[in-house]
Amino acid sequence: MSEDELKPICEDHEIKGRRLSHRIRTEVKNEVTELVARYGVSPKLATVIVGEDPGSQMYIRMKHKASNKAGILSEHHDLPETTTQDELLELIRGLNADKTVHGILVQLPLPKQIDEKAIISAIDPLKDVDGFSPTNVYRLFYGEEDLSAATPHGIVTMLDRIGWKDLSGKQAVIINRSNIVGKPLIMLLLNRNATVTICHSRTKDLPSFTKQADVLVSAIGRRTTENDPFFITAEMVKEGAVVIDVATPHGDVDFEKVKEKATCITPVPGGVGPMTIAMLLKNVVAAYKAQIQ
Ligand code: GUN
Repeated sequence: MSEDELKPICEDHEIKGRRLSHRIRTEVKNEVTELVARYGVSPKLATVIVGEDPGSQMYIRMKHKASNKAGILSEHHDLPETTTQDELLELIRGLNADKTVHGILVQLPLPKQIDEKAIISAIDPLKDVDGFSPTNVYRLFYGEEDLSAATPHGIVTMLDRIGWKDLSGKQAVIINRSNIVGKPLIMLLLNRNATVTICHSRTKDLPSFTKQADVLVSAIGRRTTENDPFFITAEMVKEGAVVIDVATPHGDVDFEKVKEKATCITPVPGGVGPMTIAMLLKNVVAAYKAQIQ
């Protein structure tokens, strides 16, 4: 075992997202090496961006770099902001039919003229490495977690690896109701026997919920004010909770103060972000295996 593998994932109350991501990426790379030796074909991820959003461009660059380091080939399609829904559907049909492509990821959000649901539904579920397609959302309902959404899957993987695998009797509170984070996370936490509550912008008296949380996941992504920039203060957190901060680039949680109370807390950056990339790579390999076997 290497020196890195002996280090704990939660150290000094801080969940080391980069360390865990590095381990998972090494596992993926080793598996890819074996699979390529067996089948003589490399896994390949195709990504699509419509428009010029700088955040999307940065995330996609990171996804390609991580893929290539793990032995996964990648190709990228940059489409202009004015792309029509039919043009994007045409590209997806081509990628669905391309036998050299095993994973397809259309970066969200999409421009207003394109219906996100129509695009996601058009991706072959076997190649849907985001886990957003109707088939994969339905499979998650039935407890099948391969090809589930990368950010929530990264969150429960962190919980699993700090020893919070069975959440029987524990309250989990998620502050986010998006299709990408909050909604799939409900299923993943239910699969681990948690009692799950969802809070969002219309929730009244947020602290009354957060104070009950043994697992608190916050993905608000806005500051309160410059003077009081954290939505989640130490007073809002239960002693001994595990706190997962999904917000970027500025965390929702007052990290230094909450760390004093929490069993474990994720930093921003270096917490959930690196895990999302690692789980995407796992999904690409899962998609490849389902197609090649
Ligand atoms: N935009 C923000 N997060 C994601 C993600 O996980 N997948 C895709 N496709 N777009 C995103």
